[in-house]
Amino acid sequence: MDKLEVKHNPRSIINITDLTVEEIDHLIKTANDIIENPEKYQDICAHKKLATLFFEPSTRTRLSFTAAMMELGGNVIGFSEASSSSAAKGESVADTIHIVSLYADIIAMRHPKEGAPLVASEHSEVPVINAGDGGHFHPTQTLTDLLTISRKKGGLNNFTIGFCGDLKFGRTVHSLIEALMRYKGVKFILIAPPELRLPKYMKEKMNAAGAEWKEYEKLEDAMPDLDVLYMTRVQKERFFNEEDYVRLRDSYILTLDKLKPAKKDMIIMHPLPRVNEISVEVDSDPRACYFYQAHCGKYIREALILYLLGLK
Ligand code: NCD
Repeated sequence: MDKLEVKHNPRSIINITDLTVEEIDHLIKTANDIIENPEKYQDICAHKKLATLFFEPSTRTRLSFTAAMMELGGNVIGFSEASSSSAAKGESVADTIHIVSLYADIIAMRHPKEGAPLVASEHSEVPVINAGDGGHFHPTQTLTDLLTISRKKGGLNNFTIGFCGDLKFGRTVHSLIEALMRYKGVKFILIAPPELRLPKYMKEKMNAAGAEWKEYEKLEDAMPDLDVLYMTRVQKERFFNEEDYVRLRDSYILTLDKLKPAKKDMIIMHPLPRVNEISVEVDSDPRACYFYQAHCGKYIREALILYLLGLK
């Protein structure tokens, strides 16, 4: 058979539930080993190529994927805006991915349309990693968050997490809730204005999984109970009108004063970018761990690349 005609059936990661809890534990273990022994991994992806296809803006996700592949000794190709790809000429996602998958060993893709990475994975010869699809999911941010929580809190069971801000459009929130529902004794407190509450389909999933959750409008009411506070940005780009965004954008602004009733060992997370929702004075509080979290993102993405390429 002509070698160029061989078809592959790769494993893609579109939603965090595409990974079992055991696989997530394996990735966390690998990431921790990379942090301790980076030299062991520095040539492991030699001659491999990652394609980063970003149809939507990104700083952390794209650059941490790029840095991750470079630290593994591999190479990176791709584009950082749709306007510099053939999407601008009207090419479909399916065709773009079909082509890129002939040139790269693994693809990380972000797209404003929910479901686009799933469609992409159906037309790819290599693994596709969803790097964020609209207001839907962001599984590699979730892996980042899980590595952060496990390193800072010593595990992923038995704690209370408060999600605050835009729980309607915040894809990082949706993916992290789906992941944590599978661990034991995790309690969820959802803090949002009525317009930005967690979507019904997510609440139904939580109920079906028997997750313990409650909803608050005021951050102050939840603060003393939290072990983890997960702040989020109001997702301007997903609003239908500017007026609603302006009215809601400053619903929550975390300050040192508001942190007074919080536990001394609570951790403050944020997927970043922040706009106004965490005052910069909080950055020097020992509980702030959002920059640490972004750092974790590079290592867990290294672990995921290795795993999907069958190298670890
Ligand atoms: C998040 C995203 O893109 O969903 N950013 C990220 O990847 N760290 C959060 C956000 O944009 O608010």
